[in-house]
Amino acid sequence: MNAVSRIGLGDHGSVTRLVFSIKELRGRQLLIHLMTQAGLKIHIDRIGNIFGRLNGSDPKAPAVLAGSHLDTVVHGGKFDGPVGVIGALEAVRTLKENKVPLPCPVEVVCFVGEESSRFGFSTLGSSLLAGQVRMEHLTNAVDAHGTKLEDVLSSVGIYRDNLVSLTRDPATVKAYLELHIEQGPILEAKNKKIGIVTSIAAPSRLKVVFTGQADHSGTTPMEMRKDALVAAAHLILYVEQVCSEFSQMDKGRVVGTVGAIKIDPGVINAIPGKAELSVDIRSISAEAKERVTRLVKDRAEQIAEDRNIAVDILPIRDELPVALDGRLLPLIREICEEKGIPYEIMPSGAGHDAMQMAKITRAGMIFVPSKRGISHSPLEWTDPQDICLGTQLLLETIVRVANEKI
Ligand code: GLV
Ligand code: MN
Ligand code: MN
Repeated sequence: MNAVSRIGLGDHGSVTRLVFSIKELRGRQLLIHLMTQAGLKIHIDRIGNIFGRLNGSDPKAPAVLAGSHLDTVVHGGKFDGPVGVIGALEAVRTLKENKVPLPCPVEVVCFVGEESSRFGFSTLGSSLLAGQVRMEHLTNAVDAHGTKLEDVLSSVGIYRDNLVSLTRDPATVKAYLELHIEQGPILEAKNKKIGIVTSIAAPSRLKVVFTGQADHSGTTPMEMRKDALVAAAHLILYVEQVCSEFSQMDKGRVVGTVGAIKIDPGVINAIPGKAELSVDIRSISAEAKERVTRLVKDRAEQIAEDRNIAVDILPIRDELPVALDGRLLPLIREICEEKGIPYEIMPSGAGHDAMQMAKITRAGMIFVPSKRGISHSPLEWTDPQDICLGTQLLLETIVRVANEKI
């Protein structure tokens, strides 16, 4: 974990390994090295998802997959992603060292590009593996430098007409398990060591572009301005307001964030002519999320009309919340009860590769506590003992799932 953390280390202990950056590649190289040392058979697909396989007595049997991601947000922490990859590697290494007999293969997986920080597109590697990437998703997926996700994909032979070319045959997978930090405050507050995840809140993402008129900040009278940034400011406040109205459990517990904004020309002496903002709306209730997204879109149009400026609302991705497997959950709970581990059954507010894997196989998730609930920040922290306990639980779950008759 420490060796991974040093790759992309920045100010105040932050970590930045953006998808397809040199730092992310170096993280993946380190993992390949560790997998080789552990004696795993390595397969890397065209997008760069890495699979390290330990065969069981029947190498043709469907495999139990366990893993997560190594890419991070900008100025993120050390634990979001690596805990699940390194934890799975440690579990499989332990199984191998102890010659634990397994009826089927077990694969450690590292997915490419789980974070949406660069292209606004999350769970890229697992979405490709699960055949969930569609043409319309690619149109507005562009990074801050103008690089199109579509171009990155075509550079490795994944084109608009063969987006399902990386899809893994579900018959080769028995289950997918992901160990992850909670990224929220519940486990710590309830003094529980493990979270067993029921479902994952999915995001709806939009790019909203207000286009007014860039003009002189000194000569243009207030009543003659078409300030795109002021329009954006109104929308940002509205996102906060409407999501607060829908924040209670009975209203679907919707959360909404404007996390990025780009202004043109973005100088002190010009009225902003263009403001582009990202909107991320999430909930475990599909209906509530859809309602709030509709309200935000309507308000953006209203603001533009009132101010006599233009607005473009570009959808990036609109996903449905995902329920995890109903049989894996009791199995993980049973292990916790046998071993006297205090656990909590809970939904996940953050997105994970498990939500894509759930579309092709049975998926289960194990959470370990986050100090003060902080994540996507250099302050992200999980106690090593808690990671250790989560890893032991993952190992035990892998063994039981591998031996399960399905
Ligand atoms: C991933 O961490 C996400 O939920 O944004
Ligand atoms: Mn994350
Ligand atoms: Mn993550």
